[in-house]
Amino acid sequence: MAASSKLPAPPTAAPTAQLPAQLPAQVSPPEFALSPALPHQIGGAEVWALPVVPADAEGDGPSLGPGAEEAGDLLGLDLLGLLEAQRATGRTGEVISVPVVHDDVQLILLVGVGDQSVTDFRRAGATVARATKDRASVVTSITSIAPDGGLGAFVVGAMLGSFGFHWRSSGPKERPVARIVLAGTTDEDADDELARALAAGGAGWRSRMLACVPSNLKTPAWLAEQAEEFAAAAGLRVEVWDEVRLAAEGFGGVLAVGSASVSPPRMIRLDYTPHGATKKTPTVVLVGKGITFDTGGLDIKPPEGMLSMKRDMSGGAAVLATMAALGDVGCPVRVIGLVPAAENAIGGAAMRPGDVIRHYGGRTSEVNNTDAEGRLVLADAMAYAVAELDPAVLVDIATLTGAMKVALGQGTGGYFANDETLAGLLAKASASSGELLWRMPLVADYEERVSSRVADGDNAAGGAGAITAALFLQHFAGDVPWGHIDFASIAEAPAERYEWTQGPTGFGPRLLLDWLGSADPLEGIA
Ligand code: BES
Ligand code: MN
Ligand code: ZN
Repeated sequence: MAASSKLPAPPTAAPTAQLPAQLPAQVSPPEFALSPALPHQIGGAEVWALPVVPADAEGDGPSLGPGAEEAGDLLGLDLLGLLEAQRATGRTGEVISVPVVHDDVQLILLVGVGDQSVTDFRRAGATVARATKDRASVVTSITSIAPDGGLGAFVVGAMLGSFGFHWRSSGPKERPVARIVLAGTTDEDADDELARALAAGGAGWRSRMLACVPSNLKTPAWLAEQAEEFAAAAGLRVEVWDEVRLAAEGFGGVLAVGSASVSPPRMIRLDYTPHGATKKTPTVVLVGKGITFDTGGLDIKPPEGMLSMKRDMSGGAAVLATMAALGDVGCPVRVIGLVPAAENAIGGAAMRPGDVIRHYGGRTSEVNNTDAEGRLVLADAMAYAVAELDPAVLVDIATLTGAMKVALGQGTGGYFANDETLAGLLAKASASSGELLWRMPLVADYEERVSSRVADGDNAAGGAGAITAALFLQHFAGDVPWGHIDFASIAEAPAERYEWTQGPTGFGPRLLLDWLGSADPLEGIA
């Protein structure tokens, strides 16, 4: 009897609503090589790029750098005359393209290097990258006149200026130049400088790539898989908390933010240990906001505010990319990277305005705005770091507040620090990496805004939004020297400019690697 009246078994899992997302192969950054020879002595390049130096105080016109005279002779071209005819100034970013018909070369680029600062060379690198898209190779003598650090900066600029991301059925629209030869390189330290630049530029590239990936693919679990791949390649220890373990260990902030999503939250931990580390080797903890999509939650964002929110994991991407490159820059301290990853979605299980949540370790927050979700996940990770990891320094990095964009515009990030030495180290790394940061104050007087009537803290204090967000987080740093980087301002470039391509900037890893790859990253602290 029973057999005929049996109902079909209910599906064990909800049917997939969308086709599985498959990211096509992406373009790669150019390869770099060093050569002591000058462009005309190196065969088989499609493009030669030569530096143009602006007129000095007495000079009556810009001049050309090494290899230009020989190139002009070989091609029968008056390159200086050409500069004059084109009214070239040699300012940074200026490029004059001279197509030629010759067996050795097809295009000459005359590239301005302005004041010849490290920044000028970074920008010249990006200029060359843009002018050589889809070419097989370029040989350039530009870096042969660079100051200390200029060669590396040129490489970083050329890599990041080449960046592209696509999801077209027909393949990428354009490709980076395949090979860049830095001609006229005689400096013994150039190999090392190139290796460090490749690490920094590669980390910026990787961070940009992660930020570009749409959220129909980029779930917290996907981000964790990426971390596992990076860890395997870089020899890092990796650990991922799933939602069950997050609940068992009390990560209430991450769980609350991720509760409405069909893609459950994760917490990612990567550990870097330097060669020869002992028990005394201090630990730096980096925490990156890993919101894989931010709808705002029940306090839903308007369409224009939501459009770029697949990039709300940019801080997490900066941490993952930095961790993967620490070995390449010879970082001498232990570093642990934490990425609390969640999708701030909308649904029946979503956290509500007015909910009170309990963070790792017990501190409670009243959720007065579900769109202030970043600080809720960062708080858990910071509390975990302070309680379990004995950090000498704690730095978090996040696209945290729209208020930072209002305060600083889109050309610089903001940072806060409860320790003057750490503030100085971050400022120094910012200046030399070219990732600009401006220090913001932890105004103690605004503290009352962060207090709640019912809980230990209020997640939506308002007022000076970037500052009150920092004050909210400060409670989770305990007594640890702590830096907080809010780069919501500069996570996205509105247009192509210098080393920035339009879209995600991949901001963060360059400055973090500059700091952590220095001889003594904890100088004056530990
Ligand atoms: N992810 C946003 C911040 C953001 C804004 C990043 C614009 C990049 C560009 C964050 O989660 C957020 O929504 N913050 C709110 C906080 C407010 C509700 C207290 C904001 O800034 O409006
Ligand atoms: Mn938000
Ligand atoms: Zn957010």
